[in-house]
Amino acid sequence: MRNKIIAGNWKMYTTVEEGVALVKALDAGLAGNDLANKTVIVIPPALHIVSVLAEAKKAGKVHLGAQNCHYEKEGAFTGEISPRMLKDVGVEYVVLGHSERRQYFKEDNGLLAVKTGAVLAENLIPIYCCGETLEQRESGKYKEVVQQQIEEGLFGLSAENISKVIVAYEPVWAIGTGKTASPEQAQEMHHFIRSLFATKYGQDIAANLHILYGGSVKPNNAKELFSQPDIDGGLVGGAALKAEDFLGIINA
Ligand code: 13P
Repeated sequence: MRNKIIAGNWKMYTTVEEGVALVKALDAGLAGNDLANKTVIVIPPALHIVSVLAEAKKAGKVHLGAQNCHYEKEGAFTGEISPRMLKDVGVEYVVLGHSERRQYFKEDNGLLAVKTGAVLAENLIPIYCCGETLEQRESGKYKEVVQQQIEEGLFGLSAENISKVIVAYEPVWAIGTGKTASPEQAQEMHHFIRSLFATKYGQDIAANLHILYGGSVKPNNAKELFSQPDIDGGLVGGAALKAEDFLGIINA
């Protein structure tokens, strides 16, 4: 059985102090909570990671992720942060290919394939995002779009490496809009994504793959989404910025 993974992507929100306070509040809310079948991840801005992780280590309930990274270990890449640096400070997960990175920073599947390999080479776990825009959904081509994102971004990986990857399906039209994919729409896509892995890598790898849903996940819709057979948790944006809301989603 796949455990549930609940990841909070803070995007470019919070100060360091607010971030530390948020983790403190999460830990207080999770006290006495058995997380044996759940992994909780917070994904703050890179600048916050060291302080937030120091706080998170006290209770040991919350894992740390980064929102992006460069593909080289080090070098003359002003403004960038490498997988090695993230590993060094205790990060475990790296989000790659978030739709905001694809849209505003022109990251494409080819670049993301390189980044994914670099992250895995540091024994970090990539959370690889995919998802269609509203236009692509309305044109009926949404499955092709997601298939291409998965094939070009991930399917160059060995079976050993692919089994470490987490996929996040985040329909762009559902991100920050309050318009969640219905459980049926999300399940259809998660099932489709799993079938792509089954065809390429076999049933065992597909059955063990975690596929998270992202896009306006809230405490009041998380339970229905997470109870779909192919939805293994969520990548949460806005609702991850308030401890009460994020706890409500974790406990859904
Ligand atoms: P919202 O939950 O705010 O829609 O954001 C989703 C997201 O982009 C998480 O990565």
